[in-house]
Amino acid sequence: MWVFSSVSSNFALRNTIKNIQNVNYLIFIISMEKKFKRTLITTALPYANGPVHIGHLAGVYVPADIYARYLRLRGEDVIMVGGSDEHGVPITLRARKEGITPQEVVDRYHAIIKDSLEELGVSFDVYSRTTSKLHHETASEFFRRLYDKGEFTVQTALQPYDEKTQEFLADRYVLGTCPRCHNENAYGDQCEACGSSLNVTDLINPRSALTGEPVKMRETTHWYLPLDKWEEKLRHWILDEHKEWKTNVYGQCKSWLDAGLQPRAVSRDLKWGVPVPVEGAEGKVLYVWFDAPIGYISNTKEILPDSWERYWKDPESRIVNFIGKDNIVFHCIVFPAMLMAYGDNFQLPDNVPANEFLNLEGDKISTSRNWAIWLHEYLKDFPGKQDVLRYVLTANAPETKDNDFTWADFQARNNNELVAILGNFVNRAVVLTHKYFNGVVPPCGELQPVDTQLIADLKTTRDALTAALDTFHFREALKQAMEIARLGNKYLQETEPWKLAKTDMERVKTILNIAIQLCANLAIAFEPFTPFMSKKLLKILNGKDINWNMLGCMDLVPANATIGSPELLFEKIEDDAIAAQLKRLADIKKANEMAAWKPAPQAEEVDFDTFTKSDLRVGTVIECEKVPKADKLLRFLIDDGMEKRTIVSGIAKYYKPEELVGKQVCFIANLPPRKLKGIVSQGMILSAENSDGSIVLLSPVGPVAPGSKIG
Ligand code: 2FM
Ligand code: ZN
Repeated sequence: MWVFSSVSSNFALRNTIKNIQNVNYLIFIISMEKKFKRTLITTALPYANGPVHIGHLAGVYVPADIYARYLRLRGEDVIMVGGSDEHGVPITLRARKEGITPQEVVDRYHAIIKDSLEELGVSFDVYSRTTSKLHHETASEFFRRLYDKGEFTVQTALQPYDEKTQEFLADRYVLGTCPRCHNENAYGDQCEACGSSLNVTDLINPRSALTGEPVKMRETTHWYLPLDKWEEKLRHWILDEHKEWKTNVYGQCKSWLDAGLQPRAVSRDLKWGVPVPVEGAEGKVLYVWFDAPIGYISNTKEILPDSWERYWKDPESRIVNFIGKDNIVFHCIVFPAMLMAYGDNFQLPDNVPANEFLNLEGDKISTSRNWAIWLHEYLKDFPGKQDVLRYVLTANAPETKDNDFTWADFQARNNNELVAILGNFVNRAVVLTHKYFNGVVPPCGELQPVDTQLIADLKTTRDALTAALDTFHFREALKQAMEIARLGNKYLQETEPWKLAKTDMERVKTILNIAIQLCANLAIAFEPFTPFMSKKLLKILNGKDINWNMLGCMDLVPANATIGSPELLFEKIEDDAIAAQLKRLADIKKANEMAAWKPAPQAEEVDFDTFTKSDLRVGTVIECEKVPKADKLLRFLIDDGMEKRTIVSGIAKYYKPEELVGKQVCFIANLPPRKLKGIVSQGMILSAENSDGSIVLLSPVGPVAPGSKIG
């Protein structure tokens, strides 16, 4: 094996300015010139109350990993830290639902999350958990220092309390009737039926989710971080000094700051969490949003026990927090205020590139409704296809607005882009090199205009790709990486080496040398996005030790080097694999609809005499057939004990006519006759509508004489 020659293309960031439309790029590029020595990348800690899904991946882990891999390729000093968020009410709710302890819940999901992220190639330097001893110590010490410095205020407030279990209830543990839509099972913080945000005091008849007892409000004391104290500093730091942040992040921060900041409680009455480390705080734990971001510090300490402070306290270090949009306030306002209150040179994040949300097939992703594509299930259903998911989630990343994941788009992007553009180009280059030169890379001869144009286009694309990565525009970056493969296909199409092979073998040598150099460029350009493919391609090219400065170079694979046999980088995804996923989602939707179904409210009272005016009877089906040209209708001939009567009923979708002959049904006998598709119907057959809208006929439990009255 040989090492790619590492001629530095020595491109300056400034050169990219001409390709840049967005003013934020410009601000960023100028600010990049304050050079940092190292970067700490943090990823939002997922709650260990369920596995991770594509929403988490698109929002946080895939973009963070792209960025970390890119910086590593640039040879920068970078670490990426992550871990599971193992405290908080969602964990205790899940434990209660499953009848296990919170520790058992987090043990289970932490393992699933950690393993699946690793299998997806998310290259954490450490993936830890907030139940670790080190984290408990770090979070306690953090609280204690703020407490000792007098950074907290103490406030007494009314909290819901369950007198039966003698405990305060988190908002999620209070149920009641939603004042807006009258759903009787709204939570104390939100109604899942109508989506309204609520306070416990908004609920009508609030009750404890633990015992069903009416909730009492009781006084309790908590520690508060006065965010108002830090408001001016935060305002200057974000609104003046970080104009380059993504518009969605900057805008959310501005509206919080413009509304004025209030003190925030940092403790809770709960049994699960980091105990509040002061006397007299029994039964109280740190609020999960106080301890979770400290997890970034604990995680850094875990891998760098002696040098973690370099990443947190040296002004030449840079911290980048990858998060979803629901976490913006905690990372841009609350955690920075905590760090300022702590002092001791803690640095604030340099950037917080938050993404919007990813929906699934038009609906909001929801753990509780199981409306998600779970990473660990994807990896089982599509073994070896990590890159496809990474690619699709990046190509369709919700960077500026919420986006939708659909299985049709997943299949199309795989088949039409990864297979047809990227895979196809590499395959053609490698196959032709084997066909004409037995896999030995031919030398590059004199360049023609088509070659120099290609090289110029490659460099322009490289610059645009780099600029997009530097500014967290990963969708755009991926588009530029794919552009290299498009350029390659266009080049082969224009130069047609398979035709020239009959007349001008010298020219074929140059073309295939260039094509192989493009393959090496693709291996580098795609490494942050699709690292498994990149590794495979490097193996085919017998290359290693790549770095970002090689991008744009045309002498990466030396002439006379032997390359490996062609191997397909991506394979087509067939319709049946997609159909199986769509069926799974359809089944989930049906199950959710059935779970949400409620019987219609009882009708108004009728007096007995009115009721008995309806003549309800049992009859036996003598004949039953479909009504021609009417999809929904069946024609029955019923033995009603007196004569035979015809009834037309709209249930053809649910029964085959032949299976009803001989069955007993119930019908209303004294309705006025009605004409349906030219047939006179003398009554109505009784049926019940199921929760999924299907119709079931009513029949007596035992045989009765036709014509018997019901009542
Ligand atoms: O929203 C969430 O899923 C939180 N568990 C994120 C925490 S991020 C950080 F602060 F730890
Ligand atoms: Zn509601």
